[in-house]
Amino acid sequence: MAEILPVGEAMERALALLEGGDVVAIPTETVYGLAGDATNGVGVARIFEAKGRPRFNPLIAHVADLAMAERIAIFDPMSKRLAEMFWPGPLTLVLPQQAGNGIHPLVTAGLDTIALRMPRGFGGELIARLGRPLAAPSANSSGKISATTAQAVAADLGAKIRLVVDGGATPVGLESTIVKVEGDTVRLLRPGGIAAADIEAAVGTKLLRGAISGIEAPGMLASHYAPGASVRLNAQSVAEGEALLAFGGDRAEGWQAAVALRNLSASGDLREAASNLFAHLQELDRSGAATIAVEPIPVDGLGEAINDRLFRAAAPRDKVAP
Ligand code: TXA
Ligand code: MG
Repeated sequence: MAEILPVGEAMERALALLEGGDVVAIPTETVYGLAGDATNGVGVARIFEAKGRPRFNPLIAHVADLAMAERIAIFDPMSKRLAEMFWPGPLTLVLPQQAGNGIHPLVTAGLDTIALRMPRGFGGELIARLGRPLAAPSANSSGKISATTAQAVAADLGAKIRLVVDGGATPVGLESTIVKVEGDTVRLLRPGGIAAADIEAAVGTKLLRGAISGIEAPGMLASHYAPGASVRLNAQSVAEGEALLAFGGDRAEGWQAAVALRNLSASGDLREAASNLFAHLQELDRSGAATIAVEPIPVDGLGEAINDRLFRAAAPRDKVAP
């Protein structure tokens, strides 16, 4: 069972867990977050694993201050103004990423944009002490409602995580408002803890509503996932000219002929595999192979999300969202 520690006593323990690539449930002003080091692929994979998320949806990266945010993402003037007005607080900005920002691609599900927010209180202090951003979705099992007390977190996820930091009931109680600046306009991607009217007053224009051109949830956007090469799943053998995405200790027949080879996890660890998935697909794609053959990956645990992701990457391209 997870240990529950009050904010005043939890800092060192939380830091040690995060440094070790583990996850910690923390209070924020909106809802409790299940936090992992956003630069550590295993830490991020553990978030998905604990939540039992069937898919890798992009997560919000939480920062300690604007300087950290500007090392991660590129701010247009309007986004900067919104950050200065509403941070720390329940506003999340979707921004283009800075190259080489160290954010693990599992956080962004391979997108070239990133969702950033600066939380108040314990979360902000923790990030400042760690010196690295924290990826944190709401601290609840996939499909359940977000937790607003440490007790609710423990009841739901207590068997799967080591520490819940208790900051009492979260003051806002629903997730942050997510917006994305598009030229002179601002799009509301998710209503949340800051009323749209307050943002409209700040920017002096009406918010556009609805998802980014046809993207319901970015995590569902197959085209963002699809590598240039075609992808062939459950490969039992490797054909000439193919690259091989391997898993575990046994190789597909003819693997020696593969143009390039990456193993998601030689020991068959699905957590390690999840943390390697996006990077390995990109590397194999860069090999120039026309097809990436993928060895079978079990569907239990994180394997479900890995297979979901690979299934999208392998979908016929004419069925893929533009
Ligand atoms: O209040 C909150 O925002 C809470 C607390 C813990 O901070 N966090 C939270 O995170 O709700 P999460 O990961 O559950 O929410 C992520 C949302 C999803 O709706 C996702 O689609 C969107 O952010 N998102 C993430 N990255 C995105 C991107 N690059 N473009 C558009 N939407 C993005
Ligand atoms: Mg949630």
